[in-house]
Amino acid sequence: MKQYPNVTVLEHPLITHKISILRDKNTPTSEFRQLVKEIAIMEGYEALRNVPTKDVEIETPIEKTTVKMVRGSKLCFVPILRAGMGMVDGLTELIPTARVGHIGLYRDEVTHEPHEYYCKLPNDLENLEIYVIDPMLATGGSAIDAIRLLKEHGAKNLHFICIIAAPEGIKAFCEANPDIPLTVGALDRQLNENAYICPGLGDAGDRIFGTVK
Ligand code: PRP
Ligand code: URA
Repeated sequence: MKQYPNVTVLEHPLITHKISILRDKNTPTSEFRQLVKEIAIMEGYEALRNVPTKDVEIETPIEKTTVKMVRGSKLCFVPILRAGMGMVDGLTELIPTARVGHIGLYRDEVTHEPHEYYCKLPNDLENLEIYVIDPMLATGGSAIDAIRLLKEHGAKNLHFICIIAAPEGIKAFCEANPDIPLTVGALDRQLNENAYICPGLGDAGDRIFGTVK
């Protein structure tokens, strides 16, 4: 990934361990959902290390002092529906005052092209630090489309966080957006003929919401 300086592949053993459990086809929906939330918290801890802060005057038991606090209302998480919703609770636990926008995209099963069906975003996007979230970066089509939509709505400061990425998705994302930081939990081998990530974890939305038994 050296050719893409905007990409951080975390490869942290605690994150890798939880992703390994996600990959297991026998992991039930309840555990899968909980793990996605926990991974989002851990990835958020890394991806949010440059969030804006402000100086606040407080009084410790000893003396008055000026401390730094996160400017939560300057942050916006934007999940790509559906599967991105699984990461929202974890990230808003980290930053409860953050705002949340929503972009609905689904991949056509034959062409694998993303189709937009929903978009509701804060009306002052240009002032916000925006973190687009989706567990899976496969062809990269959904991520690229979401970023394009956000830019069309005025977004300037963008980041992308995913749990598993395929090399094909990273290449496409970085060619389209070389300046947008991309945080990845695990980098997988390749896409298969149906544009699923191998070894991957299957369909993230179905596994989070239990829609396919
Ligand atoms: C999945 C996933 C991403 C997209 C990734 O969503 O959550 O949004 O596929 O694939 P891409 O990189 O090739 O675009 P899907 O379209 O299956 O919708 P869902 O979340 O509603 O299941
Ligand atoms: N979307 C998913 O949910 N999983 C994949 O492997 C690829 C796209």
